[in-house]
Amino acid sequence: MKAIVVGTGYVGLVTGACLADTGVHVSCIDIDERKINMLKGERLPIYETGLEEIVRRNMKKGRLEFGTSLAEFLQGAEVIFIAVGTPPDEDGSANLRHVLAVATAIGEALQDYAVVVTKSTVPVGTSAKVKAFIAAAMDKRGRKISFDVASNPEFLKEGAAVQDFLSPDRIVIGTDSMRARNVLDQLYKPFQLNRYRIIHMDIASAEMTKYAANAMLAARISFMNDMANLCEFVDADINQVRNGIGADPRIGSKFLYPGVGYGGSCFPKDVKALIHTGKYYGHRLRLLEAVEAINEDQKQVLFKKLLYFLDNDLEGKQIAIWGLAFKPNTDDMREAPALTIIEALIKAGAGVRAYDPMATGEARKQIAADVIYAQNEYEAVDGADALMLLTEWPEFRLPDWKRVKRLMQLPLVLDGRNIYNPQQLRSLGFVYHGIGTKNGTLAALEKSLYAGA
Ligand code: UDX
Repeated sequence: MKAIVVGTGYVGLVTGACLADTGVHVSCIDIDERKINMLKGERLPIYETGLEEIVRRNMKKGRLEFGTSLAEFLQGAEVIFIAVGTPPDEDGSANLRHVLAVATAIGEALQDYAVVVTKSTVPVGTSAKVKAFIAAAMDKRGRKISFDVASNPEFLKEGAAVQDFLSPDRIVIGTDSMRARNVLDQLYKPFQLNRYRIIHMDIASAEMTKYAANAMLAARISFMNDMANLCEFVDADINQVRNGIGADPRIGSKFLYPGVGYGGSCFPKDVKALIHTGKYYGHRLRLLEAVEAINEDQKQVLFKKLLYFLDNDLEGKQIAIWGLAFKPNTDDMREAPALTIIEALIKAGAGVRAYDPMATGEARKQIAADVIYAQNEYEAVDGADALMLLTEWPEFRLPDWKRVKRLMQLPLVLDGRNIYNPQQLRSLGFVYHGIGTKNGTLAALEKSLYAGA
C-alpha cells in the first residue's frame, strides 16, 4: 500500500512514520524546504519521544521518504492525508487556507482514485469543502478522476504521540462511501488490537468528535481549577476531593489535575474554534465560554498569590521559575501559562530567572522580555525571593530542598501543579502554597485573591 502525508508537523510526521512502520510506503510532503532537507538528513524539526528512531528505521528500509512536490509522489498512492496547520484567525476561527491549498494541489495532479483524508483539526463541514476544491481544480484542468474524502481526526498527546498512534484508544473514521471505508480499514487494521478500536461514522460526526473530545477535556480542567479555588475558601483540599470523585467510574481519575491553566497547541485553539462555530450558527456555547474564561483567570492565580506574599510589590524582586513548556516532556511553548505569568512578572518590575529541561530555546523565541535562562534548577533559585513551579517535569519532583533553601533569599514556594508535600516543605522552613490545597492560616488571602474574580 502507498500513502502520502501532506504536512510534516507533529501530526503529519507521527502519522507518516508510524504508518511506514506497518509496511506502508509513505511519502511525506511539505512546502517548507528547510524542514524537508533536515528530514532527508535524518534530523527532526520537532522533538517527540521515540519519533526519531521510527523515522530513521523506516527511512533505512526505504519505506519513508520526504519531498516538497506532491505531484511527484502521487503515482500509486491510495490514501492522501492532509495534516497541515490550521492556525486560528483573529476571531478564533480555524484558518483553512493551507488545507484548501492542498486540496487544490491534489485536484490539479491526481491521476488515479485516492481517498483524501483530513487529519488536521478542522471545523465541521471542511471535508465537504475539500471535496469541492478538489473537484473545482479537476474541472479547471478538464480531467475528472474519481476520489473520496474522509475525516480521520487524531487524538495524539504531545510527548506520547508515537505511543498513542501505535496503540490508540480508538480510531475515528468518517466516510460517505464503502470504497473509502474499506481502504482506510485496511490501512488501520494493524492498529486494531481489539474490535472496538475502529469507530466508523459519517464525515461531519467525525469532524465534530475531535472538537467535542478536546472541549470535554478542557472543561474537566477548568472545572477542577474552579473547584480548587473554592476549596481555598472552605478550607478543603482539592487533592483529597479529586481522589474522592475520581473513584466514581463515571467520572474516572484521569485529567482531574488543577494547575496553572491548560495550554498547548490544541485545547486553547479548539475551544475558541468551537465557540466560534457555535456563534456562526447562532448557538452560543455558554459552557465553553466559561471554560475559556476560567482558564484565562487561572493563569493569574499563582501571580496573585505571589503579589500577596510580597506585599504587592515586585519591583526589583528576583523570581525563579521551574518549567516553561505547557506540559512536561516537550519543548512546546505554544499557549504555555508560563508566557502569561512571565509577562505579568516583568510588567510588575520583577526579574525572572527560569529553568526548563527542554523548552529554553523555544522560550527565547517567544519571550521578548529580559529573562535569564538558568542551566539548572539550582542556578534558577540562586538569590530568588520566590520559586514558582509551573511545569511538573519529573526532575523537579525531588530536589535537594536544603540546597534550594540555602540559595534562596526568601524561602517561598508557589507550586502551580501541586507536586510537593506541603507538610514536608513547611517542616523544612519554607512558606508553601499550592493550588486548592489546605494553606493553614491563609484563609484571608483567598478572600482577597478571589474576591470578584
Ligand atoms: C491534547 C489532547 O489530550 C489530545 O488528545 C489532542 O489530540 C491534542 O490536545 P496535548 O495538547 O498534547 O493533547 O496535551 P495534554 O496532555 O492533553 O495537556 C493539555 C494541557 O492541559 C496541558 O497544559 C496540561 O498541563 C493541562 N492539564 C492536563 C491540566 O492542567 N490538568 C490535567 O489534569 C491534565
